[in-house]
Parts: sequence; C-alpha cells; structure tokens
Amino acid sequence: METNILSGKPTVEEVSGLEGTLRPRNLEEFVGQEKLKENLRVFIEAAKKRGEPLDHVLFYSPPGLGKTTLAGILSREMGVNLKTTSGPILERVGDLAGMLTDLSEGDVFFIDEIHRLSPTVEEALYPVMEDFTFYINTGRGPAASSLKLAIQKFTLIGATTRGGLLTGPLRDRFGIVGNLNFYTIPELEKILHRSAQLLKIAAEPEGVAEIAKRSRGTPRIANRLLRRVRDFAQVKAQGVITQAVSESSLNSLEVDPEGLDAADRRLLLTLIEKFKGGPVGIDTLAIAISEEIDNLTDVYEPFLIQAGFLTRTPRGRVATPKAYTHLKISPPKKGPELF
Ligand SMILES: Nc1ncnc2c1ncn2[C@@H]1O[C@H](COP(=O)(O)OP(=O)(O)OP(=O)(O)O)[C@@H](O)[C@H]1O
Ligand SMILES: [Mg+2]
Repeated sequence: METNILSGKPTVEEVSGLEGTLRPRNLEEFVGQEKLKENLRVFIEAAKKRGEPLDHVLFYSPPGLGKTTLAGILSREMGVNLKTTSGPILERVGDLAGMLTDLSEGDVFFIDEIHRLSPTVEEALYPVMEDFTFYINTGRGPAASSLKLAIQKFTLIGATTRGGLLTGPLRDRFGIVGNLNFYTIPELEKILHRSAQLLKIAAEPEGVAEIAKRSRGTPRIANRLLRRVRDFAQVKAQGVITQAVSESSLNSLEVDPEGLDAADRRLLLTLIEKFKGGPVGIDTLAIAISEEIDNLTDVYEPFLIQAGFLTRTPRGRVATPKAYTHLKISPPKKGPELF
C-alpha cells in the first residue's frame, strides 16, 4: 500500500475542512514557536496602539508547521479581513490589481507559495509593498506611460517552504521575517491532546506520546496520524488509543519509531546502497528514487537533516552513521570523509 501519510502537503480530507476545525484560532491556542509568538504579540500590540496596519510579514518553514494558521491568527488578532491567494494563482499583473483594489484599510493579504510568483507580478508588488502605490503600464514603446493607483494600506503576509528561493528584493521588503521550526515531542503531545478533545477521540497519554514521537516534528502529520490511529482503535480496540494501539497501527502504516516512512527509508537506503552513502548530487539522487527534486528538498530533506539522518555538503548529500544504525546496515570501515 502506497500511503502519503507523511507527505507534507495537505490531503483532500484536510483541505475540505477537517484541518480547519483543528486550526488554532488565536496565539493563545497556537502551541510552540514561543520566540516568534512573543515577537508577534509585541508587533500586533504596537501596530494597534499606533492605529496602523501590521508591517509585512514573511513566514518560512517546511510544510505543515503552521504558516497558514499564523496568517489567519494575525488577521483575527488585528481584527481585519483575510484575503488569500497564492503565487501560482496570481498569474498576471491584472490578477494582482484586482485583488489589491479589493482590500480595505488594514486587511491582511496572504500570498501562499510566494516564491512561485511570476517575475512581472513580483516586480509590480515592490512599490505596493513600499508605499502602497500600484503602477499600471499603458501603451508600448515610445508611447508607453504608467498610471499611479493608490492602494489602501494593508499587511502582506507571504508564506514559503523555500526561504532560500526568494529573491533578495522581495525578502528585503518584509519588515518581519519569521522562521518556524520543527516542534518538540512535548509540543506535539499538547497539540494532539487538543485535537483528540476536539474530535472526541479517547486517547491515553502513552498512546498520544507514541504518535507524537513519530510525527516528524510536524503538527499536520501529528493530526493526520491521530485520525488514522483512531480508525485502528475503533476497529480493533473499543475506540481507545492506547500505547499498544498507536504502536501497532503506526507499524501497519509503515511509520517507524523515528517517524520515517517507506519513502524516507528508500531514500536513505538508495543513498547508502547505490552511492556508498554519498556524497551524491541532489539531481542524481532524485532520479535514482524517481522523485521530484522539489519534493526532496522541501518535504523529505528538512526532517531527515534535522533528525540527523542526512547531511548536506557542497559535494552532495551524505548518509550519517545514525542512518546506517537505523537501517541496521554496518557503516563502511572508512566512513565518508565528513566524519
Ligand atoms: N502551533 C500549532 N499548534 C497547533 N496546531 C497547529 C500548529 N501549527 C499547525 N497546526 C496544525 O497543523 C495544520 C497545518 O498547519 P498549516 O496549514 O498552518 O501549515 P503550513 O505551514 O501553512 O503548511 P504548508 O507549507 O503546506 O502550507 C493546521 O491545520 C493545524 O491544525
Ligand atoms: Mg499553508
């Protein structure tokens, strides 16, 4: 069975509303990311005191760590509307103009996947971010001129899974840049207890702890695993999530005790068996496991690196001793030069 249980992207089930019910609605409910939350609280309060919109905010992190959730929370805390779009949807400058002229003063304009804006739309956005002026180009050649259009003062919130892919000029126009980190196991437990309560799932603390351990530091995955374990609990254990139920159902889903799934293990195994543990270039590795490079860099790698199974070197990806141990393969006598 090919599951995408650990894939970072939201599933249809989640997009169609379930994820919405679990989404924290204010900073109080938002678990973890303490430093970032503390800063945001200050910026919100200061902006409110001045009676001005919040400065433009950029959030970046791997998928499922809470960027969209925070955009919603900021608009709610500021008491303004949230208008949402995304880089690939905003194809033409005209689309951007349409959305901008629709904003009321102080609104939050959220652009997801902002690293995927087309260059022309991105350039049109610069003066808007700077002084809320939108330039409309008319005519061509010597007859070309541009009209100035004033836009209501608003807050742009951008989200990206690829901080490094953003152009300098765009990044520099954000006053607030927030990087979200993977969550600790206690934080994930807290998120899971809240979700279990909201979904009316009976779960023992040990059962929740086992799910948290295998959630790759990612709330979206934690919630997803919770729902799948509940299915097992209902069919096999009178509906209660105990440690034994979590363990056996997560094993059935091929999510191992470190939170790696079949695709992660395949990646590490390929790296070790086909490329002697690396270093190997990302494009070669992507071809070897038939995955898209973006998927490797955005979804798989961040966790594998943070959990210490993989390192990124100038000459390519390298499997760490921990990867060998985890896969029960004895490391080569003379390890990769790195160690
Ligand atoms: N700090 C948190 N506390 C509680 N739940 C959270 C937290 N962060 C995220 N979640 C849960 O995880 C889900 C995914 O979060 P969200 O959609 O905000 O991630 P994202 O960073 O926008 O992901 P993507 O990069 O795929 O757009 C949310 O629906 C919410 O239920
Ligand atoms: Mg999102």
